[in-house]
Amino acid sequence: MSVVKKAVFPVAGLGTRFLPATKASPKEMLPIVDKPLIQYAAEEAIDAGITELIFVTGRSKRAIEDHFDKAYELEAELEERGKDKILRSLRGILPKEATCIYIRQPEALGLGHAVLCARQVVGEAPFAVILADDLIDAEPSALRQMVSLYEHYHNAIIGVQNVAREETGSYGIVRTRAWDDRLHRLEGIIEKPAPAEAPSTLGVVGRYILTPRIFDLLESLGTGSGGEIQLTDGIAQLLEREQVLAYEFAGKRYDCGSKLGYLEATVEYALRHPELKNEFRAYLKGLSLS
Ligand code: G1P
Repeated sequence: MSVVKKAVFPVAGLGTRFLPATKASPKEMLPIVDKPLIQYAAEEAIDAGITELIFVTGRSKRAIEDHFDKAYELEAELEERGKDKILRSLRGILPKEATCIYIRQPEALGLGHAVLCARQVVGEAPFAVILADDLIDAEPSALRQMVSLYEHYHNAIIGVQNVAREETGSYGIVRTRAWDDRLHRLEGIIEKPAPAEAPSTLGVVGRYILTPRIFDLLESLGTGSGGEIQLTDGIAQLLEREQVLAYEFAGKRYDCGSKLGYLEATVEYALRHPELKNEFRAYLKGLSLS
């Protein structure tokens, strides 16, 4: 059985890049074809052996709780109409053994603060952090790859990928020493450096496995980049106390926090969707793009 049983989903962000779509509904509920981003993230966690899903929520996030809750009236209606297939997809959103816990982040003080809000529920166990707007298509899932590594090395692990030098200002950027296939020892990490200051072009993608020592470190942090309490700064302190690994996962990541990344994911997932793929491919072919 996996030793990483808990995953934290920070979902209290304001989603400003998708306004007005995210005015009254969370950005994590934006669908890629027919499933919201947060469901892809939850499925990845379940696939990696996680059984406790901890959502750190904020204002206007009720839809996430409702999404993972049982919808009695809707199910009764679908049952009556004989819509078995849709009913099964609704009932299968989460397996029975999964538990959802919701914690409110009272103020949007940053990703590090959001993770800190989960402290009481996480306790003294290693845990994952998943940022739902980083959608990763991978088999096995990116988090499963990382959990396997954790089980082997028992070190905190940060998911990374190469990014364009001109984009380092959008990521946590790592300084590493190569160690094994796709695996690096972390030597430094800095949040959103300008291209000229970035120690490499390996950027942090929203998958982390952390040890509980991070909580004390986050608690004593001041504000960092953007005036927020940054998870990256907590990790920078963690690696001075214990070994932390950076892992270039195998898989394709879509930045669904940006409109372009979101559209790319939508098109590519639609081209694979069993009910849509043929018609959608034909439709795209018929578009005369100049
Ligand atoms: C967050 C992290 C950053 C990481 C990024 C990945 O930034 O702070 O280190 O590279 O997620 O998506 P955000 O995109 O929330 O500004």
